[in-house]
Amino acid sequence: MKSDTDNTAGRPGEAGLGRRRFLATLAIAAGTLLAAAAGLPVIGYILEPAFRKMQHQWVPIGSVDRFTDGDTVLVAFENPSARSWAGVTGKTGAWVRREGDANFTAFVLNCSHLGCPVRWEPNSKLFICPCHGSVYYADGSVAAGPAPLPLQRFRVRVRGGQVELETRSLPIT
Ligand code: FES
Repeated sequence: MKSDTDNTAGRPGEAGLGRRRFLATLAIAAGTLLAAAAGLPVIGYILEPAFRKMQHQWVPIGSVDRFTDGDTVLVAFENPSARSWAGVTGKTGAWVRREGDANFTAFVLNCSHLGCPVRWEPNSKLFICPCHGSVYYADGSVAAGPAPLPLQRFRVRVRGGQVELETRSLPIT
C-alpha cells in the first residue's frame, strides 16, 4: 500500500531518466557528426582557393610563323589552372600581337572593369568592351569608359620557334 507521501507515482524511475539522457546525448552526437560530415566539404570548398599556390605555367600558343607582323589576333588555349570539371569554362584566350621578328605582346581578354571579354577593332586600333563601353588603346591603356586599369598583359617568350604565354591561376575576386 502506498503512503500519502509517496510522490513517485507516474514519474520515470532513475533507470528511465538515465536512458533518456543517454539517448539525448546520442542524438546530439549523431547530429553533430552529420553536420560536420555535410559541412566540412563546403568549408573546404570555400577555403581551398585561399591556400592554393598560384601556378605559373608557360603555355604554347603556336609557332612564330602563325602570327603576321603588326596583326593583333585572338588566340584560345586551355587554362592550366582550371579544374578537371571546368569543361568549356577552362578555355581562355589572349589578344596577341607580333611586332617584328620575335617581339610579341599578349593582352588578357578581360576588361579591367567587370571582366567582360574585350574585342580588337583593327580599323580603329582599339580594344572595345561591349558591356559598359570601356575603350582601350592598342597598348592596353584606358582610352574611355569606366575601366579603372589598363588591360593586363601576359609575359610572352619564344622557345624553339613556339610562342608561349605565362599563365597564372585566376585570382579570387
Ligand atoms: S566590363 Fe568592360 S566596361 Fe564594364
